[in-house]
Amino acid sequence: MASSSDDRDRDRDVAPATLAAQALHTVDGLTGAIVPPLHASTTYARTPAYDLIGGGDYTRDLNPTYRAAEALLAKLEGGAEAMLFSSGMAAATVVFRAILRRGDHVVAPIAMYYGVRTWLRAHCADHGIELDLIDMAAPAGAAAIDRAVRPGQTKLVWVETPANPTWDVTDLRAAAAAAHRAGAILAVDSTVATPVYTRPFEHGADLVMHSATKFLNGHTDVLAGALVTRAPDSIWEMLRARRRGEGAVPGPFEAWLLVRGMRTLFARVERQSATAAMLAARLEARGDVTVLYPGLASHPGHHVAAQQMKGGFGAMMSLRCGTRARALEVCARVEVFARATSLGGVESLIEHRASVEPPDTPTPADLLRLSIGLEDPEDLARDLERALGAVSSAR
Ligand SMILES: Cc1ncc(COP(=O)(O)O)c(C=O)c1O
Repeated sequence: MASSSDDRDRDRDVAPATLAAQALHTVDGLTGAIVPPLHASTTYARTPAYDLIGGGDYTRDLNPTYRAAEALLAKLEGGAEAMLFSSGMAAATVVFRAILRRGDHVVAPIAMYYGVRTWLRAHCADHGIELDLIDMAAPAGAAAIDRAVRPGQTKLVWVETPANPTWDVTDLRAAAAAAHRAGAILAVDSTVATPVYTRPFEHGADLVMHSATKFLNGHTDVLAGALVTRAPDSIWEMLRARRRGEGAVPGPFEAWLLVRGMRTLFARVERQSATAAMLAARLEARGDVTVLYPGLASHPGHHVAAQQMKGGFGAMMSLRCGTRARALEVCARVEVFARATSLGGVESLIEHRASVEPPDTPTPADLLRLSIGLEDPEDLARDLERALGAVSSAR
């Protein structure tokens, strides 16, 4: 991949949606291709003087197709650099493993993607790390983070906002202030907000993490993760060394698909979020279901979300149906939504979350998680209304 300095200069003056649509306006120096090429080669040759030709020698560290995705994501987040990983879990867990040592303290939310929570509990127990899982939900969450951090001992504050599966919103500015007061760094799982609606570095975050499997790729056909850093500092170098040493990298084809997915990120997420907002309002008006969506004035985190999410509230929502049985019955009756886990794709998904999480999950048993896709909004509304209407509203 090559790009002239003219192209780079153009990047400074255009909106993130333009950078995404044009994949940074890069033009391949050898062929003129405007689609970033897929570099399948695992190894890269040197000159007779033994200099590297393209800057990297082996794909585990520096595949040019990773770089295309990483450069675009770093720009979209307003960060210094990005790194791809083989999954969102690989990107999340390397942060905890690289930063935390025996005796350190880490603060994370109770409401978060259960995979990270489950792993984190086990990791901290195994390695003598003190873990506080706290309620970070706005509006009271900011004070709770401030109380939880221990200056000198807390090394990391982890936030997910909006958070699975109740879409709790955490005040990033307050979380950053609390973390930094304690000498800790703030890492944010921004998978659900996406850079379309929140750029955590603008609110004081130090690291941003994505399950790129979700909205960044957007087509339910790639497993990948990403980290973005505010600055290429010593922690970033540690994370880079871990990725090189541990090898948790995606295949080049996944990286290439991710670039392709990110080119339509803004159009997808804006449309999906507009549909989600319409559905949330319409379902709330029925009165037979409680809708959890940060865009609704009734959501406890709405005020903070309206400040830190610019232009929309995302495409994830949950419905509290009153009882587990009613939730499962609604789930059984939908015909347009697919009953499946995951989120952020072009197709709408519905999931009874408590069924897939461990028995000690804080997720309410009557909760259905919805990932809103790109289908006709009326088809989605009618599908949910039909399913809810057919099921008795015993609550
Ligand atoms: C918010 C969030 N973070 C992290 C992950 C883990 O990502 P992956 O499945 O790509 O490993 C997920 C997956 O569902 C998620 O929803």
